[in-house]
Amino acid sequence: MYLIEEVKNLSKTFYVTTPIYYVNSDPHIGSAYTTIVADVVARYKRMMGYDTFFLTGTDEHGQKIMRAAKEKGMDTKKFVDDLAQRFIQLWKDLEISNDLFIRTTDDYHVKTVQDFFQKMYDNGDIYPGKYEGWYCVHDETFWTEKDIGPDKLCPVCHRPLEHVEEENYFFRLSKYTKPLLDHFKDHPDFVEPDFRRNEMLRILEEGLEDISVSRTSFDWGIPLPFDKKHVIYVWFDALINYVSAIGYGRDNEKFNRYWPADVHFVGKEINRFHSLIWPAMLMSVGLPLPKKIFAHGWLTVNGEKISKSKGNAVDPRLLVNAYGLDAVKYYLLRDITFGNDGDFSEDNLIVRINADLANDLGNLVHRTLSMVKQNFAEIPDPSEEEKIDVDLKDLLLKTIDDYFSYMDSFKFTEALISIWNLVKFSNKYIDMTEPWLLARDPAKKERLGTVLYNLVDVIRNISIMISPIMVKTSKSLIDRINQDLDVEMLGWHKTKKAKIEVGEPLFPRIDTKVWKKVIKMAETEESQRKEEISIEDFAKIDLRVARIKKAERIPKSEKLVKLLLDVGGEERQIVAGIGLVYTPESLIGREIIIIYNLKPTKLMGVESNGMLLAAKDGEKLRILTVDGFVETGAKIS
Ligand code: MSP
Repeated sequence: MYLIEEVKNLSKTFYVTTPIYYVNSDPHIGSAYTTIVADVVARYKRMMGYDTFFLTGTDEHGQKIMRAAKEKGMDTKKFVDDLAQRFIQLWKDLEISNDLFIRTTDDYHVKTVQDFFQKMYDNGDIYPGKYEGWYCVHDETFWTEKDIGPDKLCPVCHRPLEHVEEENYFFRLSKYTKPLLDHFKDHPDFVEPDFRRNEMLRILEEGLEDISVSRTSFDWGIPLPFDKKHVIYVWFDALINYVSAIGYGRDNEKFNRYWPADVHFVGKEINRFHSLIWPAMLMSVGLPLPKKIFAHGWLTVNGEKISKSKGNAVDPRLLVNAYGLDAVKYYLLRDITFGNDGDFSEDNLIVRINADLANDLGNLVHRTLSMVKQNFAEIPDPSEEEKIDVDLKDLLLKTIDDYFSYMDSFKFTEALISIWNLVKFSNKYIDMTEPWLLARDPAKKERLGTVLYNLVDVIRNISIMISPIMVKTSKSLIDRINQDLDVEMLGWHKTKKAKIEVGEPLFPRIDTKVWKKVIKMAETEESQRKEEISIEDFAKIDLRVARIKKAERIPKSEKLVKLLLDVGGEERQIVAGIGLVYTPESLIGREIIIIYNLKPTKLMGVESNGMLLAAKDGEKLRILTVDGFVETGAKIS
């Protein structure tokens, strides 16, 4: 059993972070997920009396962002300023309670990164060299030949990799394999969940290789203090945010207060950076390691990977406007087991709202408060307990106990399930004690008072327990019964005498027959099927085999590639929108199918004389080719 005196941790601090978000495009519900969860944890820790620091922010340097700005024809600084503001606004709209919003373009961060890097250099952990290998701009990740297949696609995002040959500085990561293995062994909870920890252990057991940590082929980054031709690798720059935000090298008092971080929440695909590279960097400068890295899973939305073309990359505010912030948060934490992959389904969200919120919680509150109002001037006093009251009391005390241990171990689904078991049992308690019958008999007024007091007492406890997740609902409930939202008041029979207000229904039911859903998925394949055509119509299309002789990107475009083709001895130029999926080098020599008699057109000022055929599945795209050797120019029929 938790003792309230023990759970209040007034002298303790808690430092929780989210990853800092790339500002290449607007956030969606998937990117908001980590921040929403971290916010719940920060609110819970504050409620428990911890001096809490909650950090989030934006990752603004690197090639990906530089290219995204170029694509929009914007100055890079102006581009990142605009997007950072959009993140700041989103977190305000979602009532995120972060204590600081860090931007990697902030002056203090730039200086801290340079000092940190200098320290690693002075400690002999940074050395110059030449990097030759592959790079994924989307994930800002270096890959070696052994990590990737013959198609040269990124193992994480499956986009084409770019070949890089650069003078770079390297970090002696290999030197930290053994110290990291020891740390993992001595701290079994360092990385959670377990299966993510095991993934990291397997990488460590193979041995870490030194990594490139500076770039010279572009300049959108933090210059190396001792060699200004280089900018610091964007992941190095980004990871250091966790210490620069709390005053490393500037404000020792604050830094020592909060470091080491209690938990870094991250998505599973960036676990390696947080659980291996970041700890090695910290060891290099002699700082203690964070206490925990928790790598959560990925969300799909309505069963599909989140993507603009699928129509499910919705702005979280649209969902919040339609369903309310508390309902969306309840659903996210209740239905998606933190740590695993999960699906955000609008249909299931509606089911939860109707069943758990409108029905279970809404009915409990409405029935209890209306009966108190009808029968008493204020919350009545309890008297003698019956067996059923003891059952309710036991369940309440067990729920409080479970609540602390689940919330402390980030098991939000389990915490909410146990609270809702209490809600459901309380409804059953009403059905069994039949207070409407007690109200008819003046001799049973005292028993009626006890039943209603117990129910108000449970509602009060529920309001406190849900407060880190459902801030408004909790406040509205506690105000209706005029009690204090104080964790020390969790427990049986701590409700004080007060007047109550019944208030409006907490969560109106959603009528699915008339309700217009927010997420409009792109049309299904069936509905995209085109009308039938005759063989004569088809014969009008002249399809030919062509071989790609040259390929180059069209400047200022991420997608467009200019191809020079050999079609039966004739040279042809076409422009194809395949640059996000294929690198120009990987296209040379391939045989493709083109529409030979398509009217010429111009794309971004470049003439295109025909069109290449490709299969498209959402964002996936593969060019069509022939099965075996045929001469170029061969007709397709
Ligand atoms: N900038 C780096 C992090 C640097 S931290 C020192 C980065 N940024 S990101 O914008 O690509 O991703 C930020 C977070 O959003 C990651 O934790 C990522 O897992 C999370 N998510 C993005 N899409 C997501 C889903 N669809 N589902 C759940 N989380 C997802 O990586």
